[in-house]
Amino acid sequence: VAFPAFQRTRALTEALAALLSPEDATVQSMPDASPAKWHLGHTTWFFETFLLEPFQPGYRPFHPSFPFLFNSYYETLGPRLARGQRGLLTRPSLGEVLAYRRAVNEAMGEAWPLLPGVLAELGLGHEEQHQELLLTDLLHLLSLNPLRPAYASLARPGGAPPGPLAWVAHPGGTVAIGHEGPGFAFDHEGPRHLCHLRPFRVADRCSTNGEYLEFILDGGYRDPRWWLAEGWAAVTLEGWRAPLYWEGDGTDWKVFTLAGLQDLSTGDPVCHVSYFEADAFARWAGARLPTESEWEAAAQGSSPAGGGLDPMVLRPRPAGPGTSLRQLFGEVWQWTASPYLAYPGFRPAQGALGEYNGKFMINQMVLRGGSCFTPRGHTRPTYRNFFPPQARWQAAGIRLAEVS
Ligand SMILES: [Fe+2]
Repeated sequence: VAFPAFQRTRALTEALAALLSPEDATVQSMPDASPAKWHLGHTTWFFETFLLEPFQPGYRPFHPSFPFLFNSYYETLGPRLARGQRGLLTRPSLGEVLAYRRAVNEAMGEAWPLLPGVLAELGLGHEEQHQELLLTDLLHLLSLNPLRPAYASLARPGGAPPGPLAWVAHPGGTVAIGHEGPGFAFDHEGPRHLCHLRPFRVADRCSTNGEYLEFILDGGYRDPRWWLAEGWAAVTLEGWRAPLYWEGDGTDWKVFTLAGLQDLSTGDPVCHVSYFEADAFARWAGARLPTESEWEAAAQGSSPAGGGLDPMVLRPRPAGPGTSLRQLFGEVWQWTASPYLAYPGFRPAQGALGEYNGKFMINQMVLRGGSCFTPRGHTRPTYRNFFPPQARWQAAGIRLAEVS
């Protein structure tokens, strides 16, 4: 990986944050979401901690308190600010955090020839993950602001609405899934291994707002038959009656986006649903969610080109006509029926970076594909994302599957 790639990635984060006031960048809307200022600092701390300190002789950290403020979850690296308190960082100022970025960017430029390429790539992949989180966390924050502010004036995705859902058959059998070099992947994407799949079919596109609206109008949120017990408990406790960010009643719905409150478009993929909602919708539709191995087997040979983060759009685009597999990458993450677990033979790295993924392999479900907030070039067919089943603030949607 070349230094200009580092510069481009760092500049995109800064460009995404440049539209924010210092106040926008400081407030935390819930413990799951972090302020933009924290994302800006944390991604910088990552390069400082995992690249500059070990590999640049004589490197002096920018500020003695920043490791405490910007360490996310690395127990090996010592105590840190509690996750739910990241919104209390009225100091350092946004300007000081941006100065921290500039200093580390400059030091990275000097150190670049000394740095192990695989760790530099990990740092870039990490920064890209936080670009996505910066946007989804910001959407949550702005959605709670009584002024209903837009982050930016954005283009509405165009295109004809998709036709009826079609199925793409897969013969099943023994398939290899998971990453095996060359090219960068996160540790949990491997080792590559064999799975046995029964024949199955996957939907040619993601489920739409219009299809999900039928579930709502059919009383889907009032009928426990469709729901897992924990999902029904969440519906009851949280009062869910539509995806997160939908506003309205009956048939007249609006949706809050980074462009502010917009009319709901029935052809767009449904987004901001929990695993519980995706699973209930699938059961209501007489289908199910794909397992992650089915999803990956179906996606093998498909390219993630197209879709992904376009700072002028920032919402999922409709599938358009066709019956080939569409919207695999870069519109909405697709919940799978698979719990997030280690692949056979997985071994976390030695040291603090072993905490990157492995310790989160409990009580979460795998999502595949990538969303309209996922930086271009970040995702791939083996990519595994994971969130708890009740999480709704990520850009997660639904691709149906069924037995052939
Ligand atoms: Fe992180």
